[in-house]
Amino acid sequence: MDILVIGGGGREHAIIKKLKQSPLCGKIYALPGNGGIAEDAVCVPIAATDIAGIKAFASENHVDFAAVIPDDPLAMGLTDELRAMGIPCFGPSKAAAIIESSKAFSKELMKRYGIPTAPFETFSDYDEAVKHLENHSLPVVIKADGLALGKGVIIANTLDEAKAAVKNMMLDGAFGHSGDRVVIEDFLVGPEISLLVFTDGKSAALMPASMDHKRIGDGDTGKNTGGMGAVAPNPYFTDEVRAETTENIIIPTLEAMKKEGRTFKGCLYFGLMLTKNGVKVIEYNCRFGDPETQAVLPLMESDLLETMLAVEEERLCKAEVRFSDKFSCCLVLASGGYPEKYEKGKEIIFDNFPGNIEVFHAGTKQENGKMLTNGGRVLGLNAVRDTLREAVTACYEAAEHVSFENKYMRNDIGKLALEAID
Ligand code: AMP
Ligand code: GLY
Repeated sequence: MDILVIGGGGREHAIIKKLKQSPLCGKIYALPGNGGIAEDAVCVPIAATDIAGIKAFASENHVDFAAVIPDDPLAMGLTDELRAMGIPCFGPSKAAAIIESSKAFSKELMKRYGIPTAPFETFSDYDEAVKHLENHSLPVVIKADGLALGKGVIIANTLDEAKAAVKNMMLDGAFGHSGDRVVIEDFLVGPEISLLVFTDGKSAALMPASMDHKRIGDGDTGKNTGGMGAVAPNPYFTDEVRAETTENIIIPTLEAMKKEGRTFKGCLYFGLMLTKNGVKVIEYNCRFGDPETQAVLPLMESDLLETMLAVEEERLCKAEVRFSDKFSCCLVLASGGYPEKYEKGKEIIFDNFPGNIEVFHAGTKQENGKMLTNGGRVLGLNAVRDTLREAVTACYEAAEHVSFENKYMRNDIGKLALEAID
């Protein structure tokens, strides 16, 4: 089967490497892909949001299957358009992708169906939002309703900060129309768990839970990023937590979406927090997480393409979805300055790089035979080992063998998870 993969980050590279292991897999086209993905797939410079361009390419090249990975094309309804052309897809419909593209929708859904989440109110009126803040406990969490590149969540410690965040979103249009509505919610405390679940709308197959490291600085300090590294499995996702999550969150969410006429098929991402009052949903994403996927998929032992087909054909309960019980770490190497201003075009040199480390390219391009940096997150290094400590150590050792100007990484990926295990 010839396959189209939409996207061009580290997550997509991890997906493509796994798809390639399938005996069913023929040619893979990555739109747009990146410098490293070009070693594993045919990269075509069509943007993930260029719906017309993607449709034309898919039809000209007679692709048999498409995997739509990033949030934007999912929110824009690319899977609906491809399915209408007779091309089966992995990824939710536009109607189901709203679970990520509108936080107001997902919060109301949780309220209506009794799915545990932080108490909240939604506002489309600026003055009412400010009035609400004046009586709210601190810290308070303010979220732009729509997609905002992971930057639409502000945790305000003072009333002034909270008011500034609401003004920024609602009046100053910092996130365009994504900030027309805001969600104001209680601040929760506890370890976070990222859980990726394959679902065909009827049944669910859980991947090993993982732990992301969202902040730029060691010890979870500084700005939020797309994610600076991840480990799996997450030690906080014990058998008890798994049972509670399945019963109170996963099954009710799939049923709620079905009842709303928005059956979800694809990879549903549950951003969970383990509070002292039980597991709560912090957010849903309608797609694989990044970098979580770069830690989780290397543990997959069964065939990813088979699973994606089973999801699309709604026969997931009969499919074999199997993961190893080893430990995995993904360490992100970023451009200094990320998530704010950073430079691109720096040459990446691998020197005596260990053979037993997988490299996923996120922001790279090839030029004149050289590999250059081309984004904030540049590479994800992955190690799968018998213990978490070995996986983490192997990633940090490998990082010494990659250089580019202003290379930046966190020094404590996996630390919290290791402390939880010890
Ligand atoms: P989100 O984009 O909704 O995942 O939010 C980004 C990050 O903000 C989450 O991973 C949490 O660390 C934090 N966060 C979001 N909502 C809350 C909340 N209600 N309480 C505490 N932290 C939160
Ligand atoms: N790493 C968080 C996300 O993919 O949204």
